[in-house]
Amino acid sequence: MNYMDTLHKNFTDVFNHANDIRLFFAPGRINLIGEHTDYNGGHVFPASISFGTYAAAAKRTDNKLRFYSMNFPEAGIIECDLEHLDYDPAHNWANYPKGMIQFIQDSGYELHAGIDILYYGDIPNSAGLSSSASIEIVTGILLERLFHLELDRIELIKLGQKVENDYIHVNSGIMDQFAIGMGKQDHAIHLNTETLSFTYAPLKLADHSIMIIHTNKSRALADSKYNERRAQCEAALTDLQTELNITSLGELTPDEFETHKQLIQDETNRKRAKHAVYENARTIKALEMLNKGDLVHFGKLMNESHRSLQEDYEVTGLELDTLVEAAWNQEGVLGARMTGAGFGGCAIAIVRNEHIETFKKHVNQAYAKKIGYEALFYTAQIGDGAKEITKEVI
Ligand code: GLA
Repeated sequence: MNYMDTLHKNFTDVFNHANDIRLFFAPGRINLIGEHTDYNGGHVFPASISFGTYAAAAKRTDNKLRFYSMNFPEAGIIECDLEHLDYDPAHNWANYPKGMIQFIQDSGYELHAGIDILYYGDIPNSAGLSSSASIEIVTGILLERLFHLELDRIELIKLGQKVENDYIHVNSGIMDQFAIGMGKQDHAIHLNTETLSFTYAPLKLADHSIMIIHTNKSRALADSKYNERRAQCEAALTDLQTELNITSLGELTPDEFETHKQLIQDETNRKRAKHAVYENARTIKALEMLNKGDLVHFGKLMNESHRSLQEDYEVTGLELDTLVEAAWNQEGVLGARMTGAGFGGCAIAIVRNEHIETFKKHVNQAYAKKIGYEALFYTAQIGDGAKEITKEVI
């Protein structure tokens, strides 16, 4: 049975009907470089991956909403209705689609009926590959299509971010939803998060692949530390604004930062701001290097990014550092770094194809020796952004 038949069958088994079921998909994402820059008005360089969230959905005749995830069968069917969508801790994962439905309605789009939705995600657990943004965006797309909403893709992406910020209360930037909503096969997206102008950069990796390596470390306290980093950057910006006419750290070049950094009173905040400014400069440079085919330089920028996230931003931790340092020591590796928010989750590495098998073996040995359990390895496939998948097939 292919995955479409499986989703269809599960939908029918769970909801006891098979009326007009349609299928949707939204990917997860990796970020090549440009970490913790998106809420600082800087650049990011993500790509959507083939792992993601599938949703099988059908309209109802009443106003009920029923959610079911094949990933959390023990949670059973979670039920509410179009008028009662407030955050409920007991609803767990279903708060993401609930938030999306609430904010789409709040934006003035009318949903004339309830929906049954079955989700299935193949993004590895707690991997920091944006499973939550993937659920938000797949829900947005299915609402758009089922109810013929004239919803602009960028507006949908912004609503996904709003769910994180105002409903889940994680102050994340726009990178994840943008990568998931706008992804393009075999391309990365170089995005200016201040203006939302972007370019697609072809991922021409000349005999190399991007490996995703999962620490298998659960991302405990990640949300509160994430919000703390953001607040530290905002405090640094406020100090800089006493003399500089800027609205974000992303406006500063490294030289300008060095000239004015003493305005930042707190030493920790100064380190956080340093990372944001230098990381943005590296991300701009990385596009140039990728376009020139200078993968060696691109890899070096990735390595510098990791060091900066380790020493100045302090979001890596023993597991990610062990993985990345082991990766740096392997033959055929152009660069490696953590990807996403950090505090556990995944690293990425650009590895020459002929060395992939020894890379996996050696990195895993070094990791297990130090950490006590193994890492997981995936070859990244860069796929398209969120879409409806072949409703005709069903
Ligand atoms: C998380 C957030 C993004 C971004 C990254 C760090 O993935 O959702 O907005 O800030 O962390 O670069």
